[in-house]
Amino acid sequence: MTDEQLVTLAREAATKAYAPYSKFKVGCAVESVDGEVVTGANMENACYRLGICAEQSALTAAQHAFGLHKVARIAVVGGADPTVCTPCGGCRQAILEAAQLSGRDVEIICGSGDGSVVERHGIGALIPFGFGPNNLVSQ
Ligand code: THU
Repeated sequence: MTDEQLVTLAREAATKAYAPYSKFKVGCAVESVDGEVVTGANMENACYRLGICAEQSALTAAQHAFGLHKVARIAVVGGADPTVCTPCGGCRQAILEAAQLSGRDVEIICGSGDGSVVERHGIGALIPFGFGPNNLVSQ
C-alpha cells in the first residue's frame, strides 16, 4: 500500500469520529508488516477527559487484529485546515510501545485535514529518549 492509500484510509476513518465537543475529527490507519490495515477515530465523551484519540483507537484494533509487535506504519489525519495533525504526547507514548515491541522505528505519516500537506516522521524523532518496554526488561 502506498503512503497516499494509507492516508486515504485514515481520512475515511476520520469521517467516523465522534467529536461533538472539539469538532476536531481525527482518523488513523495502522498497517502491519504483512500489509493488513486497521483504522480508528477519536471518540469523545461528555466527561471530556475520558475521550480517546484516533491513534489509541486504531492501536487497540491493531492489537486485536495482528498484535502490536507487527505494527509497521501509521497514518494520522485530523482537522480541516492546512495544519498537519501530529500525534499528541500520549499517542506518541502508545506508538513507542508498539515500536519497541517490534524493534522498528515505526513510521508515522501525518496529514493535514485539507489534504494539502503530508509529513513523515519516525517515532524516535517524535519522542526522543522515550520511556518504553525496553526500560523494564530487567524487572
Ligand atoms: N486527537 C486525536 O485523536 N489524536 C491526536 O493525536 C491529537 C488529538 C483528538 C482528541 C480530541 O478528541 C480532539 O482530537 C481534539 O483534541
